[in-house]
Amino acid sequence: MGLYKFKKINGEKVLIYDNMKIKVLIDEKKLRRRVRELGQEITRDYKDRDPVLVSVLRGSFIFIADICREIKIPVTFDFMAVSSYGNSKVSSGIVRITKDLEFSIENKEVIIIEDIVDSGRTLNYLVKNLQARNPKNIEVCALLDKDVPRKTENKVKYKGFDIPNKFVVGYGLDFEEKYRNFPFIGYIENEQ
Ligand code: IMP
Ligand code: MG
Repeated sequence: MGLYKFKKINGEKVLIYDNMKIKVLIDEKKLRRRVRELGQEITRDYKDRDPVLVSVLRGSFIFIADICREIKIPVTFDFMAVSSYGNSKVSSGIVRITKDLEFSIENKEVIIIEDIVDSGRTLNYLVKNLQARNPKNIEVCALLDKDVPRKTENKVKYKGFDIPNKFVVGYGLDFEEKYRNFPFIGYIENEQ
């Protein structure tokens, strides 16, 4: 408990909290710059179109709030929540929709806004599920793409960052529902 406090250990900023060491992987400035670029790309590609941004809760709530303000065309929003069974750090690949979209996406241009692609199974499931509702098209925007071996093709058109195969938190991403409010992306180095 208590405030988040950084310590300098060997010249590196480290957050020690709940007996975990959390290091910064992508700082606020880099996030802001890249999110702006992604917004500009989407603005350019979707000029004269009116896509619906489908945000996958809860992990993408900060990303969508930031990127939508960098998209300078009219967009609409809808939200979905999914949970993948499994332990806290490994997704099982069994995806369950816990909150479905409010609106029909038939004939709509959909942009899925995701926080992170790890095994890719959540995204695969989502794309298949949404495709069955006959949208005009679906593209995927994901902030992070983890470097893990995957059998399936990468469906991400708008990608923020490639990251190493580490468990990351912050900027919407959690470990056991915590740390989503870090303004940066950090990684849990070890549990002490
Ligand atoms: P996938 O199905 O293995 O691609 O997992 C995707 C989902 O697992 C993401 O939408 C996240 O909610 C969660 N996830 C995967 N990797 C991480 C991580 O490093 N930190 C926090 N959540 C993660
Ligand atoms: Mg997610």
